[in-house]
Amino acid sequence: MENLDKAIEGLEEVGYLEVDTPKTIDFVAEIKKLKEEKNAVILAHYYQEPGIQEIADYVGDSLGLSQKAASVEADIIVFAGVHFMAETAKILNPDKKVLLPDLKAGCSLAESCSAEDLAEFKKKYPNHVVVTYVNASAEVKAHSDLVCTSSNAKKIIESIPEDQPIIFAPDKNLGAYINKETGRNMVLWDGACVVHEAFSLDKLVELHLQHPDAKIIAHPESEAHILKVADYIGSTSGMINFVKSDSSKKYIVGTEAGILHEMSKEAPDKELIPAPANEDNTCACSECSYMKMNTMQKLYLCMKYELPEVTVDEEIRKKALIPIERMLEISAQK
Ligand code: 13P
Ligand code: SF4
Repeated sequence: MENLDKAIEGLEEVGYLEVDTPKTIDFVAEIKKLKEEKNAVILAHYYQEPGIQEIADYVGDSLGLSQKAASVEADIIVFAGVHFMAETAKILNPDKKVLLPDLKAGCSLAESCSAEDLAEFKKKYPNHVVVTYVNASAEVKAHSDLVCTSSNAKKIIESIPEDQPIIFAPDKNLGAYINKETGRNMVLWDGACVVHEAFSLDKLVELHLQHPDAKIIAHPESEAHILKVADYIGSTSGMINFVKSDSSKKYIVGTEAGILHEMSKEAPDKELIPAPANEDNTCACSECSYMKMNTMQKLYLCMKYELPEVTVDEEIRKKALIPIERMLEISAQK
């Protein structure tokens, strides 16, 4: 118990529970038991480590995870993803206890845009509506008119009258891609995903020369020069569905490497090659260090002790709920 008190004290500093676990502990069996005992569901993003994806009740992209979170009936939502995702779950389903294995699992996009800076930015563009990519804090969403994810961004922007000027935050790469797709001229916030910006065009071209029969697929958080050479551009679930239904046999996959787990399960007969990252990136493939902060041990501890919990101030929650619900409504329209 003393051990636990110390761990809880340390939680604020490190963002997760640091409790010694016996070497013999079977995390898979224990997590399964805790799910039953506590009536909890585990929602996981495709970028989580394979073991976490395997034990999750639902694995999906940001849109799928939000839709799922909104309809969860269990008492506890354990979010194996990053902070903005767990916050979105709490905003949509406030009566549930929402747990995140590591509170420091952030996102470079969310960190690039504070609510204060966005409020200042909006003053320069008083006639603009604000569309915010879901990779943003609850406070930023509370300052937004609409939210979108990578799988519905085009649809969301097209739902806005053509003569209505728009600020798009915080992903300039997704924003530029949607500008190109829709012919709009949205004002873009200067934020980017560190993982997708690390892809090297030179190395990608070199790799493609070695595998000329491979199709290049990319996430729209990537830079324009990467998207230009891609055969398919889409969200994580869009990429998985494309590989599953497309007739080619080989793909160079331009997104976080965690997706390869589900992609190879869904399309076992396809060869998947991770897109290469820049020289200065220590990882050969692209891994999101925030997503990978969650581990089986942290998942187990967070379920056992129901800590750390993600909470959202009620005033902010109510304001942030409006643009998220608008997004879900538009997304559901045919
Ligand atoms: P999607 O899974 O919605 O495509 O988002 C990718 C991502 O980077 C999440 O942080
Ligand atoms: Fe954020 Fe990029 Fe990591 Fe997704 S992959 S959580 S956008 S830093």
